[in-house]
Amino acid sequence: MSSGMSGPSFKSAVRLLKEETTPYMSHNTILENQQRQPLNHLDSVWLFGYGSLIYKADFPYLQRKPARIHGWQRRFWQGSHDHRGTPESPGRVATLIEAEQESCVGMAYEVTPDVFEHLDHREKNGYLRFFSEFEWLDGSGSTEGLVYVAGPTNEAYLGEATEVEIAHHIAGSVGPSGPNSEYLLKLANALRELNAHDEHVFAIERALSQLEFE
Ligand code: SIN
Repeated sequence: MSSGMSGPSFKSAVRLLKEETTPYMSHNTILENQQRQPLNHLDSVWLFGYGSLIYKADFPYLQRKPARIHGWQRRFWQGSHDHRGTPESPGRVATLIEAEQESCVGMAYEVTPDVFEHLDHREKNGYLRFFSEFEWLDGSGSTEGLVYVAGPTNEAYLGEATEVEIAHHIAGSVGPSGPNSEYLLKLANALRELNAHDEHVFAIERALSQLEFE
């Protein structure tokens, strides 16, 4: 991965997002992502996925490898208007939240730049892409690549809630991509396959299964 990539670094860009003078940016991020980060001069780009991008790779890729990103934790704090909910009744999906001591396991894909046309459309509901460093889980080093993050100033952001509250919310949400619970359960299974323990995700999964018996 070259160091000649353009666009803001991951952390500085997230900070910028928080400090933006306009209170809310549009929840459709397609244009913004294309303009901030032209990628066509690159042969390939690594993409780090930590949510549905782990278990649903509906795009061509050259190779994929489990990876970990440091300084961030996965949280179901982003609203979904277009996949697991609707604008009137948003679902809850994963985003990354800054947390100095934490890290987050996911799946990295090496893709050609044209694939971002599809990815930007898929992640358009509030997610902006940033370059960041991530570490290979097999201990073979690290690379720089892109990750989609939905920051707290996007219109679809829902923010913090307890895992039990999130489970209730997820149990009642459905969108064009299917039930919100399917997103959570597939992610939990995919994390188990990666031998990754994510207490936030697993606590929501437990609370969701409790609801079935209520
Ligand atoms: C990701 O998976 O990396 C982003 C969030 C999502 O699409 O679920």
